[in-house]
Amino acid sequence: MNSQAPNLQVELPSDRISRRSFLKFCGLMVATLALPARYIDTVSKALATASRLPVIWLEFQDCTGDTESFLRAAQRASPLDPGQTSPSIIDLLLDTISVDYHETLMVPAGEMSEKSLNDTLQNYAGQYLAVVEGAIPTADNGVYCTIRGRTALSIAQQVLPGARAVIAMGSCAWDGGLAAASPNLTGATGVKSAVPGLANFVALPGCPANVVNLAATIVHLLAFNELPPRETDGRPYFAYGEEIHENCERHDFYEEDQFVRAWGDQGHRSGWCLFKMGCKGPRTKSNCPQVKWNDSTCWPIAAGHGCVGCTSPHFWDQLTPFYQELPDD
Ligand code: SF4
Ligand code: F3S
Repeated sequence: MNSQAPNLQVELPSDRISRRSFLKFCGLMVATLALPARYIDTVSKALATASRLPVIWLEFQDCTGDTESFLRAAQRASPLDPGQTSPSIIDLLLDTISVDYHETLMVPAGEMSEKSLNDTLQNYAGQYLAVVEGAIPTADNGVYCTIRGRTALSIAQQVLPGARAVIAMGSCAWDGGLAAASPNLTGATGVKSAVPGLANFVALPGCPANVVNLAATIVHLLAFNELPPRETDGRPYFAYGEEIHENCERHDFYEEDQFVRAWGDQGHRSGWCLFKMGCKGPRTKSNCPQVKWNDSTCWPIAAGHGCVGCTSPHFWDQLTPFYQELPDD
């Protein structure tokens, strides 16, 4: 990262990011964080003057789904201006951060990539944001995931303690996710148990994690100099404070006992409740109904599929079979 990287104030207004888009972005972030609208001013001033936050993005035992989620937010159709060719969430997010190291996306390879990592660690000690994607295998001294001959575990132990904040991006980085599902032969686990004692840790589980929640977390860090309030397991309340079931657009059908009973039946075509088809919305906390996916255009239940509970602890083991109705509590 260039330590003199321009901040938003220098860049705005520009052809790429208008003042209007910037303020819309701030409004979306404040709404996502469930803050009163008066904080738009606080957030916009903080982002306009903040230097870019250096980011080290580590990718371990994963499918790169969270990186895909991150990149997909770069689609030009944006929730900021649906249907318009305006700056997207990621355009604006990338003006607040500098992704200095990302094994999948970076141009340098081999020794040069290692130099990028070491330069950031050295030049921005205590200032960089560490994002972890993927689980960390711990069995047999972590040998089941290595990068340049080093185990994921040793890289995490080197990088995470010196970060300003650590974000576990996605379910695998949170609690091991799919990699930790039974029988978990590699001893896969999440960031917090692999590297205990991290002070500034936040988890954004999901399979994958939603980039709007990533953006809101970073905005909160920059605007208030701290991570958003969160549960002891690291999940921030703004994104994981309420059950999907309570905010679901099909909830009235649930209350009226109007259930889909077979894929494609009349109830399914009419948008009725998916509980009998295995929906795990009543056991899952997430802001999916509000934030949605694909540029805020849709989300799983709106698309006609039940929630599989991908933001819940150990959902691969605890919420399967996915198409089986939840038992009574
Ligand atoms: Fe609840 Fe799922 Fe039915 Fe929505 S579709 S009301 S989350 S059970
Ligand atoms: Fe995951 Fe359920 Fe949302 S499956 S993406 S938490 S609707």
